[in-house]
Amino acid sequence: MKIFLDTAEVNVIAELAQTGLVDGVTTNPTLIAKSGRPMAEVIAEICRLVEGPISAEVAATDYESMLAEGRHLAGVAPNVVVKVPLTWDGLRATRALADLNIKTNVTLCFSVAQALMAAKAGATFVSPFMGRVDDHGGVGAELIQDIREVYDRYDFATEVLAASLRHGAHVREAALAGADAATLPPDVFRALVKHPLTDKGLDQFLADWAKTGQSIL
Ligand code: E4P
Repeated sequence: MKIFLDTAEVNVIAELAQTGLVDGVTTNPTLIAKSGRPMAEVIAEICRLVEGPISAEVAATDYESMLAEGRHLAGVAPNVVVKVPLTWDGLRATRALADLNIKTNVTLCFSVAQALMAAKAGATFVSPFMGRVDDHGGVGAELIQDIREVYDRYDFATEVLAASLRHGAHVREAALAGADAATLPPDVFRALVKHPLTDKGLDQFLADWAKTGQSIL
């Protein structure tokens, strides 16, 4: 499963990209607003930091303007993926962008039927929002599982990008459900490797090693 960062904080992306474990980045209008910087500048910087797909979301809601914005964003860098909301106009723009060989991430997906339509429109990625489904009394993990099953049954190439992940359990569930990728806020990414027994075990190993008086080099 590919791991993307869900943030527009360039400094954080630069720091976490050093792990060699960041396969891409997703942004949305809320994250761009939080950065307080011009969108094209932020996206261009992120695209230089991470080679993988970088999602940049259109702000228009009508087909013609979405297409124009999508073409403009795709021109910022070769690894830009145009993020489009899951609406009728958004799906029409997705089809048109796919016909222009521009990659898309169809976002705000909350049902299998919506995911099916995104795949039929030629989306490169679909983003089901696990956390927001859970917030509204649903089960985000089941949505990922069901989309996976439908895509496999009908051989759709669209990749399932689990989004709106809030904690490590969501990452586990997305991986078990067969998501192709998961996009994580930086704090969730950082927490993935932490385990108290790892820390405790390492402390013990280091204390015992110190007693030997040896050095490896
Ligand atoms: C990513 O593509 C989404 O925009 C993001 O994961 C939404 O997360 P949230 O529900 O925590 O805002």
